[in-house]
Amino acid sequence: MQENVLILDFGSQYTQLIARRVRELNIYCEIHPYNKPPKDLSGFKAVILSGSPFSVRAENAPHPDLSEIRGKLPLLAVCYGAQYFAQFHGGTVEASETREYGRANLSDIKPAELLFDGIPDYSQVWMSHSDTIKELPENSVRLASTSDVLNAAYRIDGEQTYAIQFHPEVYHTTDGKQVLENFLVKIAKVAQTWTPEAFVEMTVSELKNKIGDDKVVLGLSGGVDSSVAAVLLHKAIGKNLYCIFVNNGLLRKDEFTGVLDQYKHMGLNVKGVDASARFLDALAGLSDPEEKRKAIGNAFIEVFDQEAHLIQNVKYLAQGTIYPDVIESVSVNGGPSATIKSHHNVGGLPDFMKLKVVEPLRMIFKDEVRRVGAEMGIAKELLGRHPFPGPGLAIRILGDVTAEKVRTLQEVDAIFIDGLKEWNLYDKVWQAGAILLPVNSVGVMGDERTYEKVVALRAVESTDGMTADWVNLPYEFLQKISNTIINRVKGVNRVVYDISSKPPATIEWE
Ligand code: XMP
Repeated sequence: MQENVLILDFGSQYTQLIARRVRELNIYCEIHPYNKPPKDLSGFKAVILSGSPFSVRAENAPHPDLSEIRGKLPLLAVCYGAQYFAQFHGGTVEASETREYGRANLSDIKPAELLFDGIPDYSQVWMSHSDTIKELPENSVRLASTSDVLNAAYRIDGEQTYAIQFHPEVYHTTDGKQVLENFLVKIAKVAQTWTPEAFVEMTVSELKNKIGDDKVVLGLSGGVDSSVAAVLLHKAIGKNLYCIFVNNGLLRKDEFTGVLDQYKHMGLNVKGVDASARFLDALAGLSDPEEKRKAIGNAFIEVFDQEAHLIQNVKYLAQGTIYPDVIESVSVNGGPSATIKSHHNVGGLPDFMKLKVVEPLRMIFKDEVRRVGAEMGIAKELLGRHPFPGPGLAIRILGDVTAEKVRTLQEVDAIFIDGLKEWNLYDKVWQAGAILLPVNSVGVMGDERTYEKVVALRAVESTDGMTADWVNLPYEFLQKISNTIINRVKGVNRVVYDISSKPPATIEWE
């Protein structure tokens, strides 16, 4: 059994970051909403309280009962957590005169305190709060201040209860990871045994127990998550895993055959299904982005369902769901945020399939998925692939989709992506692709007037796709790529580069 750390979420935008930092220390942790804490705390070795968008003084602010935790388990309260703890244990919290947001430096660090072991005075921390702790709770000892915040950190005497006003999880807190390590390893004595190797061993044995001799079907997408999930399952149940890789005709150039070959080399029991014509038929005449997405989603379900029925007696459907999706669905704020785009994943399968779901990656983050993949020997090229949307090139062809437009965009996209690889830029970019615009522009080639399509190139930096910045690609590179595209791809006479960030734009154009 892995030792476990409980993170109680009060709705902070940084809660997932706390979990990621803890996992980076090779310590397993789980996020639970403050209003639905686990009933049984016996498996937890320590507890962290997250920050929150609320003020502790607001009426509807989270006020959980900590009596089962305080004094029984080592506790680290962060930001809101620190204020909440102070307010309800004999201290006071008031509105600050100025909002304290951004960088600050620790001062007056109390010597010989384990929480700040190895952390120098003036270490930079990140503050993000508008209330401040005026008076500390009973029996507390101040551990550090900043120029604006007298009570930047404290602990309760005689307990393993610690509180910090700053955010140790954000990058701008220079020694934040050390603070977390001091708390978890030196104070709470949690074992650092959460490694990719341990995860593989534990998951494979759990999958074996759960699935036994039953059959599992899995939809491969060519992406990292479904591939890693497949390899884990393959290790556990071998040929009883039936993988289906659907060619929707909207993949990148040569991707279907290339990726299928790769899967076969990996020993997976995979069937490639070429359903390109069916998807193009379903898309014919549609130009509204949501209608296109829905048509592709439905076609996928039909094809997948048909294929799954060809395998006799399947009991399970495997999915590559990862931890951020799970956290989102049980979040403090309750469920996913407003639908901007209806995302198409293998997730939306109809009830009549009556399959039990198995999700081997549901407790790990994207970076952990990659490390687990590497541990199992999956090729670097597959693990490092840029994210690619389920509806594929259809949402990068603005307006209606035809086979001809797909071919044109595949050529442009291949030149761009190959160029990024040649110039060693591919791994520095989170995601890149080309978009075929529904406009013609006038150009001149030789002495001839042309009236042809415009393509846009998009390359973004991001960590999770939620926010993104356009990448400052070298001008020389853009110049070269633009020339190559216009010279080689028939029907395109203009290339533009998208310099919009998300928000307010999104990564995909539809
Ligand atoms: P947006 O365009 O919403 O994209 O900023 C964020 C990330 O999600 C990808 N994306 C999708 N992925 N099915 C997917 O599996 C979809 O329907 C879908 N739509 C967008 C997009 O490529 C980016 O990585």
